[in-house]
Amino acid sequence: MKEQQSQKIDIDEIIRCLGLIARTLHENPKQALKDLREIGEEIDCKIPYRDGHSIRVTDYCLSIADNIGFSENEKVVLEVAAILHDFGKIGIDESILLKPGALTQEERDEVTMHVMRGYYMLAGFSELIEALKGVRSHHEYYDGSGYPEGLTKGDIPLIARIIAVADAFDAMTSERPYRKAMTKQAAIEELKRASNSQFDPAIVKIFLKLLSQKDEKNNK
Ligand SMILES: [Fe+2]
Ligand SMILES: [Fe+2]
Repeated sequence: MKEQQSQKIDIDEIIRCLGLIARTLHENPKQALKDLREIGEEIDCKIPYRDGHSIRVTDYCLSIADNIGFSENEKVVLEVAAILHDFGKIGIDESILLKPGALTQEERDEVTMHVMRGYYMLAGFSELIEALKGVRSHHEYYDGSGYPEGLTKGDIPLIARIIAVADAFDAMTSERPYRKAMTKQAAIEELKRASNSQFDPAIVKIFLKLLSQKDEKNNK
């Protein structure tokens, strides 16, 4: 009980800070994003098995955005969305997030709810409205079988389609309580397999190209 209470106070404090950051986003995006990244790191510390997930996902997303030719403003929106994409996971019972075995339907529903929970927790900040499309829709599937709304293809906001690919790759290549980390090659194969069903094939193509360019650079 005590622990839950202290976590609640932390969430309130984080939301208060996010409000301050949101207000400075338009005048001073550089400083706002720097502060937001710090919050992203803090959020990762509060959710078991995160260890830098939000920041890695954000950096993958920004590389994809550069390749697509996003404007500076579009990149700010994407960066905010990527840092906050799993905000709604704060407060999910740790025993669910740390469970080594399969989840019950009820537990799965609790995890699934993180997208709308994150969306509603932040929906009061009008400056974040565009970015919240990424928070809300990053688990939509290209073929319509995702959640929360079952959107398809181009109806899924572009920033959410980008986050979906970056998020899945980072999740697959990180260790989880119920499985070991996949190798990079196995994760690449999985992205290819799910291209067109789970993921936007154009985004997967760009992301795989970026990964191979990075490999080439590292091997030089
Ligand atoms: Fe998520
Ligand atoms: Fe995630």
